[in-house]
Amino acid sequence: MAEIRVMRDDLLPPPSLERRHLLSIADLTRADVERLLGTARNFSRSLEREMKKLPTLRGRLVVNVFFESSTRTSSSFELAAKRLSADTMSIKASGSAVDKGESLKDTALTLGAYDPDIIVIRHPQIGGAHLVAGVTGAHVVNAGDGKHQHPTQALLDLYTLQEEFGRLEGLHVAIVGDVLHSRVARSLVQALDLVGARTTLVGPPTLLPRGIEAMGCATSTEIGTIAAADVVYVLRMQRERMLEGANYVPSLREYSERWGVTPERLRPGQKVMHPGPMNRGVEIDARVADATDALIETQVRAGLVTRMAVLYDLLTSGPVGVKAAALTEVA
Ligand code: CP
Repeated sequence: MAEIRVMRDDLLPPPSLERRHLLSIADLTRADVERLLGTARNFSRSLEREMKKLPTLRGRLVVNVFFESSTRTSSSFELAAKRLSADTMSIKASGSAVDKGESLKDTALTLGAYDPDIIVIRHPQIGGAHLVAGVTGAHVVNAGDGKHQHPTQALLDLYTLQEEFGRLEGLHVAIVGDVLHSRVARSLVQALDLVGARTTLVGPPTLLPRGIEAMGCATSTEIGTIAAADVVYVLRMQRERMLEGANYVPSLREYSERWGVTPERLRPGQKVMHPGPMNRGVEIDARVADATDALIETQVRAGLVTRMAVLYDLLTSGPVGVKAAALTEVA
């Protein structure tokens, strides 16, 4: 079992309290989540029209800063801002002054000089989004900070579940795979707990953080336990976050044999989700990924309307905000 270390939000740079941010699922109440999902549903209806662009955020500036690779999150935030008629600017680490050694603080101060309304930031370090919220006047959305949080992924997953099952309360989700390195798992466990759903984390003991049950979930090292869940949520093996030389599993082949999600391990009709990117043949069998019970493309579509809702909500009167809540972090 991996060691667990407790961090508190007050050990991170203090975010600006004059502006509302979405840095963690811990920032949200159940009412916030319900309002955001309702707004996303309204935007979903607007996207059914031939003319998909809304004038809602005309004249606003959304800056997308992605210092870690992304396909789904970066594209959906950019399209979300464009669908709402905001001006957008996108910065990636490669090709920016980060290549010359510029710090995140100086990059944030530079971009903040343009007076953006919202900065969306993905950063490999825990606390990257908090830092930007502390030094700019923008509303900040955490699009993933290390293995800490990915709140908009959790919101789009709740949206997908709500659309599929017509409810969230009482659902049972089994999250399978590399929980240790997963910001998606941490955010989703908190979000499911907030709305009255149940989570079981499943995987090798080396990839299940000790003490994670304190976040409001059960754990199991037996892949057979996934059969009891309404939904199987598959996680990628995050080799880029694994410590060099650490043997979390004997080999990827052995991992697939023991914990890979295959058709044989699922009940007929059991729904499958994956945040992407997938490693077919490692954590998920290609037949599962391509089956009609897989909600993976539905999740991508949900990402667009959910992120439209988050941008809209931050710039209107919704109470998304920062709480000084303690958070549990895994070393
Ligand atoms: N789910 C997710 O964050 O995917 P990307 O890394 O492609 O943004």
